[in-house]
Amino acid sequence: MDIVRELAALRIAVAALRSDGASVALVPTMGALHAGHIALVEAAKRPGTKVVASIFVNPRQFGANEDLSRYPRREMADLKMLTEAGCDLVWLPPVEAMYPQGFATNIGVTGVSDGFDGAARPGHFDGVATVVAKLFNQVAPDCAYFGEKDFQQLAVVRRMALDLDFAVEIVGVPTQRDDDGLALSSRNIYLDEDERTKAVALPRALGVAARGIARGDDPADAVAVAHAALIAAGFAVDYLALADAETLAAEPAADRPRRLLVAARIGTTRLIDNIAIDPPEQG
Ligand code: PAF
Repeated sequence: MDIVRELAALRIAVAALRSDGASVALVPTMGALHAGHIALVEAAKRPGTKVVASIFVNPRQFGANEDLSRYPRREMADLKMLTEAGCDLVWLPPVEAMYPQGFATNIGVTGVSDGFDGAARPGHFDGVATVVAKLFNQVAPDCAYFGEKDFQQLAVVRRMALDLDFAVEIVGVPTQRDDDGLALSSRNIYLDEDERTKAVALPRALGVAARGIARGDDPADAVAVAHAALIAAGFAVDYLALADAETLAAEPAADRPRRLLVAARIGTTRLIDNIAIDPPEQG
């Protein structure tokens, strides 16, 4: 597995990967890798495809009061995991390479970025869209893999790629979960034992609500019950709401794919998760 830290070297390495006609898949990450990231690499490893992973803790997507400085950095362990997963190339840009002196460009995706984490974390999705656009221009992949756990991010990236004519197929990969259902996240390491035990309420509440809505329960009632379950488990709920799975518009039509999205804090840790809502059963 090659590791490159300079843009010129990246371009040469990607050209070498492509030299026998292979296509290139990108797995963008901020490091602190876990099984969820490795599932992205596994999904990307298709015949005739070389896999490039990027590791860059992107300062522009962290708010002033967020956890940039304490965000876990584990380069050696990350590289070992990527080697074992069969990744072909790792792009590890230094911050000055991504944001050189005088960097003045921002990519904002309106609409789909506005609610949920976009409202709770102003500027976050501008930071994500800007860095992902740069990664697409740097690596020039044929396809790129993103986890469905960050569902709004996936929707923002899809919109951005469409709007800016990136010839990159965006692939969403189902959320990887611990045995009790908690979505894997780099932030789970912040949970103490008690918080980790209580955190299972999050996927459980989503599952109960999703099944209820799919059975035809009133969505507002199902969401209210899930909200109460989270409060009872000790969560402070930032948002818990049903949205159109593509546009993330509120009050989605029941005949379109819908998603129930949640962000909730337990102790000092903010967790997000989401679940697909199947159309109500007929008859
Ligand atoms: O999902 C992440 O880890 C990040 O938001 C991403 C897509 C790598 C952009 O920094």
